[in-house]
Amino acid sequence: MKFMPRGIGVSALAVLFVVTSLSASAQTKASHTHKARAWWDNAVIYEIYPRSFQDSNGDGVGDLNGIMSRLDYLRVLGVDAIWLTPIYPSPQVDFGYDISDYRAIDPQYGTLADFDRLQQQAKQRKIGVIMDLVLNHTSDKHRWFIESASSRTNPKANWYVWNDGKMVNGKREPPNNWISLFGGSAWQWDPARKQYYYHEFYVQQPDLNWRNPQVRKAMYDVERYWIHRGAAGFRLDAITSLFEDPSLANEPYVRDENGKIEINAYGDKEVDRSKTDNLPEVNGVLKQLRQAADSTSDPKWGQKVVLIGETYVGSIADLRKLYGPHNDELNLPMDTQVGFINKLDAAVFRKKITEAETDLNGNEPLFVFDNHDNPRWDRYSDGTHMKEIGRMLAAILFASRDTAMMYYGDEIGMQTTPPTRKQDVRDPIGIRGWPKEKGRDGERTPMQWNSGPNAGFSKPGVKTWLPIPNNFITVNVKDEVRDPDSMLNWYKQMIALRKSNPAFRGREMMLNTNNNQVLSWLRQAKGEPAVVVACNFTAQPQTIGFNLSAYGLHSTRVKTLLKSPGTDDPASLKQVKLQAFGVYIGQVE
Ligand code: GLC
Repeated sequence: MKFMPRGIGVSALAVLFVVTSLSASAQTKASHTHKARAWWDNAVIYEIYPRSFQDSNGDGVGDLNGIMSRLDYLRVLGVDAIWLTPIYPSPQVDFGYDISDYRAIDPQYGTLADFDRLQQQAKQRKIGVIMDLVLNHTSDKHRWFIESASSRTNPKANWYVWNDGKMVNGKREPPNNWISLFGGSAWQWDPARKQYYYHEFYVQQPDLNWRNPQVRKAMYDVERYWIHRGAAGFRLDAITSLFEDPSLANEPYVRDENGKIEINAYGDKEVDRSKTDNLPEVNGVLKQLRQAADSTSDPKWGQKVVLIGETYVGSIADLRKLYGPHNDELNLPMDTQVGFINKLDAAVFRKKITEAETDLNGNEPLFVFDNHDNPRWDRYSDGTHMKEIGRMLAAILFASRDTAMMYYGDEIGMQTTPPTRKQDVRDPIGIRGWPKEKGRDGERTPMQWNSGPNAGFSKPGVKTWLPIPNNFITVNVKDEVRDPDSMLNWYKQMIALRKSNPAFRGREMMLNTNNNQVLSWLRQAKGEPAVVVACNFTAQPQTIGFNLSAYGLHSTRVKTLLKSPGTDDPASLKQVKLQAFGVYIGQVE
């Protein structure tokens, strides 16, 4: 697992992409092999950061009853499933990703009875509840770890990754150069057990030993437990990091073009993670997780359980592997190839979307632009065309052949609002990495429901756990419902169109592939009218013409389905005018 570089322009990866345009035949290769449809195909999954969605009891932190009170809002938006980041009991060092009990609810968020009610209420609205399953590590306050750390001979002695370290000039040192993603050595000395333990993340998040069959069994039991309680699926946290190379060999350092070792925001020498991430054994576990899900009978959800992966991998080939050679592993490994290009470059978007269409064995891609670990989509903005660019990204997300994963607040245009002073930072990585790494508070601010006190997130006068961004006066649900040109109404229309027009369940083919100002594509399902989508990637108006005869479409008549505010209806497909960062979606007549 590796978060994407934070902010625009810092991505060396983006520069490495070699842009090639694909022929029409290569593009259609996979179109007839798309797998049988599951409920999550073409679905909209909405990520909720429970601390920040809706506070129902006035403690400044969101909770399950708060989420429940907003289910109708989500239904009207067109959401098919909500993914809740961890709501289990936790010391909250990593705001829930340090779990101390996998079978209960943290009292801050509610009770198991509240969860059951939320699940039932959501199901009544045809909304699935997807749980976050953190398998790589537990909290250091979990009873498993407390026991494991208590001696070298206790029954759980081998449940975590323990090591003696090595003696260097009479001094004990960690066994190798592995570093935590959150700063410092990945090895922590435990004075009671007199050994080091490995932690990919915070010191308070010791890694489980996945080579121990007892650990596996315990976690598959947790998976079944939540399926019985009605989970519609799981988002598998840090899933690529379950295993470490048993040789404990050093990881090669990452070097810049002059051969100098790169130093990260925490002051550590950057390593390539080749011994700690994406080891092939992960696939075996994915298969077993899939089997455990498929063999659990009598689930309250009543449909197949979806397995989503937190999978920041470097290439489409690595992403493809995570579906499994027989499509028996993850259903939806998160595709960060498209959403984290981090630069409005039409050619790169074209290449990456085409790869998702043709190079995933016909499986469904999961597109995502932002989440609780990365700056929101406004990182793509040029500063002047915030709303236009937001609409365009939404068009890419919802008009592509994908499962669409969105983050709460995207639909109203919430923006990344990082703290400006170190003393205000809540996310420990921001405290440790300040000022280079400001942490993830900026993308976790409370949902903006209205322009009243605390933006309707919490009761008036309550100090909310993170401050409400100043723009809540205009950027909020209540005002946007009334404004036909709001971001919220654009999202609603995009989602409704994606669901109602059958072309959006068909194949996707890039058009005018030499045009690097406008990204355009065709959606076509057998026996249904085709749909053209065009997005202007520039701040200047553009005019584009389409000749679709290669797809058996000889008419140039088009009926507008959706367009950016202020766009004219085109007289024909020969001349479609787009405003700065404008979007046009039309049905070929
Ligand atoms: C995942 C989560 C992130 C968390 C980390 C450690 O990357 O998305 O928020 O800090 O895992 O559990």
